[in-house]
Amino acid sequence: MNKVTKAVFPVAGLGSRFLPATKASPKEMMPVVDKPLIQYAVEEAVAAGMTDLVFITGRSKRAIEDHFDTAYELETELEVRGKAELLKIVRDTVPSHVNCIYIRQPAALGLGHAVLCAAPVVGEEPFAVLLADDLLDSRAEVPVMKQMADVFHDHRCSVLGVMNVRREQTGQYGIVSTERDSGEIQRITGIVEKPKPEEALSTQAVIGRYILTGRIFEHLRTLKPGAGGELQLTDAIASLLEEEAVLAYQFRGVRYDCGSKLGYLQATVELALKHPEVGEDFAAFLASRA
Ligand code: G1P
Repeated sequence: MNKVTKAVFPVAGLGSRFLPATKASPKEMMPVVDKPLIQYAVEEAVAAGMTDLVFITGRSKRAIEDHFDTAYELETELEVRGKAELLKIVRDTVPSHVNCIYIRQPAALGLGHAVLCAAPVVGEEPFAVLLADDLLDSRAEVPVMKQMADVFHDHRCSVLGVMNVRREQTGQYGIVSTERDSGEIQRITGIVEKPKPEEALSTQAVIGRYILTGRIFEHLRTLKPGAGGELQLTDAIASLLEEEAVLAYQFRGVRYDCGSKLGYLQATVELALKHPEVGEDFAAFLASRA
């Protein structure tokens, strides 16, 4: 199996938890300090060596395409004014060796359906899926998707990023059961989408980082609606498990759930404290409030 070069970003979700901020602009464009959420995910994929970025978009998502495109007027203006640093920031949203591909998901039928929309571009190859809602701070370690690409390279099978959650939270995640109780890399024996705490087989939750083999598309094609009446990626993975090995990988780093207000605020505070321009002053501000 080849190196993973394709990354899929399902970005068609409504972002209803952030209304009215997301009424006219995509939730993936919400900034954490000074970068939109989607750019953090793109940088993580690029750092893992991925060169074809496939965005599964929907209505009102034009801003994402514009963000990774050339901005002629803005660039000309910055050039004329001699703002070289800002010009570099604007041009560097995506490196020039990387291709951005946009596929429209005609209806919001679920994450499984969104991933299936990437099939014509991905083909039979292994590929990554990154959910931009999950912001992963690797804290000076290797970026999380690169950690997962390394696991894929060694084991040649699908890899899901997982972390432990509290039992009362299992209803928010895909939950995996594994062969053993602990260990950084584990073979998955079962996976269930958003089980009730009393029914969950474990507290190991899938976060929005996946490397999947091309076989997943076969399982997605025959999928029936699952939790919430949606076509669930989790259910296709459950079916893939019967055919080939799928690994759970306990990543090194911190995950912020930027799909929730609290997680978004936590990410903002943590990343602001580390930001070279405002970090020190922001820390002083927080201290002054205590
Ligand atoms: C999705 C997946 C779920 C996974 C989660 C990670 O759920 O369906 O299995 O655990 O992302 O963030 P969502 O948060 O989109 O409801």
